[in-house]
Amino acid sequence: MANPEDFFKKVIAHAKEYGYIFASSEIYDGLSAVYDYAQNGVELKKNIREYWWRSMVYMHQNIVGLDSAILMHPKIWKASGHVDAFNDPLIDNKDSKKRYRADVLVEDYAEKLEVKAQKEIAKAKKRFGEAFDQAQFEATNDRVLRYRQEKQGILDRLARSLEAEDLADVKVLIESLGIADPDTGSKNWTDVRQFNLMFGTKLGASAETATDLYLRPETAQGIFVNYLNVQKTGRMKIPFGIAQTGKAFRNEIVARQFIFRMREFEQMEMQFFVRPGEEMQWYDYWKQTRLKWHLSLGMGEENYRFHDHEKLAHYANAASDIEFNFPFGFKELEGIHSRTDFDLKQHETFSGKKLQFFDPELNESYVPYVVETSIGLDRMFLAVLSHSLQEETLDDGSQRTVLKLPFILAPTKAAVLPLVKKDGLPELAKSIIDQLQWDFNVIYDEKDAVGRRYRRQDAAGTPYCITVDHQSLEDQTVTLRNRDTMEQIRVSIDSLALHMQEAIAYKNWLA
Ligand code: GAP
Repeated sequence: MANPEDFFKKVIAHAKEYGYIFASSEIYDGLSAVYDYAQNGVELKKNIREYWWRSMVYMHQNIVGLDSAILMHPKIWKASGHVDAFNDPLIDNKDSKKRYRADVLVEDYAEKLEVKAQKEIAKAKKRFGEAFDQAQFEATNDRVLRYRQEKQGILDRLARSLEAEDLADVKVLIESLGIADPDTGSKNWTDVRQFNLMFGTKLGASAETATDLYLRPETAQGIFVNYLNVQKTGRMKIPFGIAQTGKAFRNEIVARQFIFRMREFEQMEMQFFVRPGEEMQWYDYWKQTRLKWHLSLGMGEENYRFHDHEKLAHYANAASDIEFNFPFGFKELEGIHSRTDFDLKQHETFSGKKLQFFDPELNESYVPYVVETSIGLDRMFLAVLSHSLQEETLDDGSQRTVLKLPFILAPTKAAVLPLVKKDGLPELAKSIIDQLQWDFNVIYDEKDAVGRRYRRQDAAGTPYCITVDHQSLEDQTVTLRNRDTMEQIRVSIDSLALHMQEAIAYKNWLA
């Protein structure tokens, strides 16, 4: 496959060409970092959401769902800390007029040092071959040690400056490292400023009486403020969880990398309410459970890793990201946070209402601690899409582009293809659609030679092609072609549903 940058461009182009993702408002030249999900994209997104929902809600008797409103009382965001602290440090380049996240500029610089270290390791590996002891090389090689030391020094200083809100020092750091505008090379920077990421909006008919509101920057707060309602009406006993999927909005300063960082995106979050003191065991449980969910999709164990946070947010006593190997490297896909009782206590203070749970086993009331799992649906979509897009050289030397989506997530499960557009084959194909469409999303395709239709469905990610030929008219059998193996088997029309069901049963994937 091409180099990572070219490959990523290919993913973006493929997403458009095969009806997965379009730029928003494209005929008006688009809207930065906002995207629309097209006919296949909306199905893939729905299937990922469903896969998450089933594993979280249906597979846990003590987790229930919620769909809270996007607009919420503005005090919620004061209580949660988002009004005062949901900021990113931004810096502008005076020549290019481009805006960047100051911390990301420094982190990218530090990452380049790691890339240099990796190059040294790769060179040595090539030189020493089989005899290469990588661990020893990394621990002793001067250059590798120097690059990594420098990287750590830079990241430590950045963390100190941000923690102390010393934005002047972040600028000094950028200048002393000689960091230039990645697009133009200019080093003519403004001061670093804090920028709140929440989108504001108004509630009310006239400008004088309107209330200032925010579009929610996370779905989690809707869960916190409803927790006692759910607990009481659902007669939930601790430990229990509330799951929610829905839109979140962030005015990201730098929204690059396609749907990785968007201004309007969707989250799938679950807050798990536990006894104080038991949060670490549940934190470990959810780390492992969420990783297993990812692995169940078969996208390669080597493509996931945990990144445990050393520097914790003020509300957390443990936090870890599940990172995925995107085309641009390992990046955060999901966060698992032990959020203590911070949010509920803040809402008690700001609302003046008690948010305690009476624990009948302990015979005492307390504010529960919370372990959160939070994954971006769009980011998961990008992980699945980019991992699935593959170029293959076939035995006859020809190339095929295939989108090897996990069958359970594929937008269309099968395409039904009459071999020719006559002799009653289209009619039989359409009657197969009539049978299958009760249980599966299936499509009919009669245009072009059958080989080209196979290629088109491979590239669109359709797991099965069902071909209706003249023999089908005689014995009611068809060929069932598997997208990944390209193997074709002859099966009776009556058994098609069974074959497909077996391949996309939730039990077979999630278990
Ligand atoms: N409630 C916790 C929370 O919102 P977060 O780390 O800010 O934590 C959780 O976000 C997840 O949401 C991330 O791991 C990522 O997958 C997704 N996410 C965050 N910002 C995003 C953005 N601008 N575009 C797309 N996904 C985003």
